[in-house]
Amino acid sequence: MNNELYAVVGNPINHSKSPRIHSLFAQQTGEPVEYTAIQAPLDDFAGTVKQFFEGGGKGLNVTVPFKEDAWALAEHRTSRAEKAGAANTLYLDQENDLVADNTDGVGIVRDLRDNQKVPLKGARILVLGAGGAVRGVLGPILAEQPAALTLANRTVAKAEALVRLFADEAANIELSACGFEQPGQPFDVIINGTSASLQGDLPPISGNVIGPDTVVYDMMYSLQTTTFNQWALDNGAQRVYDGLGMLIEQAAEAFHVWRGVRPETSPVVDELRND
Ligand code: ATR
Repeated sequence: MNNELYAVVGNPINHSKSPRIHSLFAQQTGEPVEYTAIQAPLDDFAGTVKQFFEGGGKGLNVTVPFKEDAWALAEHRTSRAEKAGAANTLYLDQENDLVADNTDGVGIVRDLRDNQKVPLKGARILVLGAGGAVRGVLGPILAEQPAALTLANRTVAKAEALVRLFADEAANIELSACGFEQPGQPFDVIINGTSASLQGDLPPISGNVIGPDTVVYDMMYSLQTTTFNQWALDNGAQRVYDGLGMLIEQAAEAFHVWRGVRPETSPVVDELRND
C-alpha cells in the first residue's frame, strides 16, 4: 500500500520532534504513514494548509504560532477544540470539510494520570499561566474532577477570564484565579504552563506551594531538567516531570484520530529520552 501523507506545520519547525514520534508510531503499528515537517510563511498558514490537502495530504499537526489560526480556519471543530480556542490537529471529513481537533489536553491528562499514576480526581491543582497553552488543556483537566484548580498568572485578568470561560465545566470544582504571590500553601499537583522559561525567567511564586508529596509538571520539554523543574527541586519537590510525555501522548491521540489505531507511547518516550 502507498504511504499516506501527514505533516506538522509551524514556524520555525526544524526542531519539531513530531516527525520522529509519528515515524516511530508508524513503524510500531505498521500503518502506512509518511510524516514530514512543513514551515509555513507567517502570513500564509491558510495557503499552506490548502496546498497540503489539495495535494492529497491526510492530516496535519499544527504548532506554534498557528494553533489559533488552525482553529479559525476549520469548517468544523470537535468540542474539545472548540473550548480550547486552538487546534493542533487537522483533517478532512467525508464531505472534504476541514475539521479542527485539539489533543493537547488529553495528552497532559494521560501522561499525568496513566503514565505517572498521579490521581487528578479530587486533587488540589495549581496551574501557572493563562495563555493559549493553558486554555488548550483546561477542559480535559477539569473533566478529571479535581477538588480545586487555582489559576495563577502575571496578568490576573487573563486568569479571571479563563475562570469565567470554564465555569460550566467546573460546577463542582473550586475554580479560582490569582496572582503569583498569592497561593502560599502546598498543592497536590503544580502545572507550569507559562512561557517564562523561554526568556530564562521563572514565575515569581513562593516555594511554599511545594510540599513533600507535591507533583510538579512543566509543560515545557527539554533534554536537561527544565528551569522550572530545577526551581521546584531546589524548593523540595520530590517528583518533577517535563512535557515530553505530554508531547508524545498528544501525538498518539492525533494518530488515533487519523488512523483509528492507538500506538503504545512508552517505547517512544524511551527512544526520545535516549536521543
Ligand atoms: P502560550 O501559547 O505559550 O500559552 P501565550 O498565550 O503568550 O503563549 O501565554 C504565555 C503565558 O506565559 C502567559 O500566561 C504569560 O503571562 P501574561 O498572561 O501575564 O502575559 C506567561 N508568561 C510569559 N512570560 C512570563 C514571565 N517572564 N513571567 C511570568 N509569566 C510569563
